[in-house]
Amino acid sequence: TMQEERVKILSNTNIAKDTWRMELSADMAKDMKPGQFVNIKIDGFMLRRPISISSVEDHKFVIVYKVVGDGTKKLSMMHANHYLDVFGPLGSSYPLHEEEDEILIIGGGVGVPPLYELAKQYRRMNKKVYVVLGFNDADSVFYEEEFKALGCDVSVATMDGSYGIKGTVIDAIKEKDIKADFTCSCGPRAMLKAVEEKYTRGYMSFEARMACGIGACMACVAKDKKEENMYHRICKEGPVFPIGKVEY
Ligand code: FES
Repeated sequence: TMQEERVKILSNTNIAKDTWRMELSADMAKDMKPGQFVNIKIDGFMLRRPISISSVEDHKFVIVYKVVGDGTKKLSMMHANHYLDVFGPLGSSYPLHEEEDEILIIGGGVGVPPLYELAKQYRRMNKKVYVVLGFNDADSVFYEEEFKALGCDVSVATMDGSYGIKGTVIDAIKEKDIKADFTCSCGPRAMLKAVEEKYTRGYMSFEARMACGIGACMACVAKDKKEENMYHRICKEGPVFPIGKVEY
């Protein structure tokens, strides 16, 4: 049910260092699932930008994105009431596991946003949700309060120790002695590798560099972890995979 739609910007706010939150009004919101992304056309740029969906309401959705280049810089300068050409929703989502009582959600930096909708849906199912967020420094921290407001047990780690627990998300899990072992994570490769060394149950998502975003160009492929010569497109079969499925 992916579609192209002209969607209206409702707000666009700077929430942390180089990090922006944009609220959009769109019919396609009704089809969105946690972990999926949209492809946004930015005037003057040929390639659309893949940006993960952070939360969904009836006819609205939110994206949280990082300004990393000219395209996202331009996106950050767009105001409410302007329109964007958006294609989506795209990719796989985090399957919801009704049988799990405790969910451990692990997010690193720009990997944090898609986990918010997931946490929201597990909380709606009355699950105990632990959220561990990792950032580089205090200025980069976002969404701690938002996860707390959902009723999640939230821990924050920063690499330089300027906020929360000093170190990685794994350090924070140790320090907080979190025992839950069904994990849903999203973040940089190094973080996913560390999660994979410790946990075998759950799902992970990696924000790959994508080109077409719709499965046509093979720019985003990841190797299968077990089968030789088998590849998966992060944009199409992913971005969410079971732990141990792909080589991150
Ligand atoms: Fe083109 Fe994934 S970005 S196939």
